[in-house]
Amino acid sequence: VKRITTHILQRMKDEGEKISMITAYDFSMARIFDDAGMDVLLVGDSAANVMAGYETTLPITLDHMIYHAASVVRAIKRAFVVVDLPFGTYQGNSKEALMSTVRIMKETSAHGVKIEGGEEILESVKRIISAGVPVMGHLGLTPQSINKFGTYSVRATEDAEAEKLLRDAKLLEEAGCFAIVLEKIPALLAKKVAESVRIPIIGIGAGKYVDGQVLVMHDLLGINKDFKPRFLRRYLNLYETILGASKQYISDVKAKDFPNDNEQY
Ligand code: KIV
Ligand code: NA
Repeated sequence: VKRITTHILQRMKDEGEKISMITAYDFSMARIFDDAGMDVLLVGDSAANVMAGYETTLPITLDHMIYHAASVVRAIKRAFVVVDLPFGTYQGNSKEALMSTVRIMKETSAHGVKIEGGEEILESVKRIISAGVPVMGHLGLTPQSINKFGTYSVRATEDAEAEKLLRDAKLLEEAGCFAIVLEKIPALLAKKVAESVRIPIIGIGAGKYVDGQVLVMHDLLGINKDFKPRFLRRYLNLYETILGASKQYISDVKAKDFPNDNEQY
């Protein structure tokens, strides 16, 4: 199989083929997503929420991210693997950002990193790209700034924030980012961004006019019982499926139905 590269992702945008992206945090799920033909796997710092149970993404460490990312990379044959730089590993200065990236690239063999922010982190973005590592930007709702925003509601609904977002997207493109994630912003603003830059724009809660879509695997598969934001399409209700299977197993064990004569040595 032909591996997905940043050049192939750019060609997809140029030819109007939408890019498919999903988060992955472990070997077994990454294997399935790669077999399915997913273009990009994101080892998101949402691992802090869905894998570790933290309220926000802030507590996850670089070591944790490296553990998840290395597990994902061992599973894939085709997908492009992007790893989030977690909170506190890049904001200090561009050298810190580069050193964090170098650890990710050396210890996981992933293909690129994603960083939240625009103008504020531009020097870091440039330095990482200078070192030969593809960088994906992330604008709009940037969960590492939740304590500044106060809520996880839609961003850039006001002109000033929308204009800054568009400016940031252009700065990230000029700095050499290969793609940008736009999270939870109005569809028409996302459309304007996608039309204003050449590089692929991947949306989550950013509507249909962008160049690709990303979702958190637990949301798409319905593993999170009560997380049902408007932008989410749930393709399965795995919470109910797994709950049912678990209850059946419990009752089979209690009833001495499992294991039966054929299920023992
Ligand atoms: O960490 C994550 O899952 C993400 C996506 C929501 C884009 O950054
Ligand atoms: Na993230």
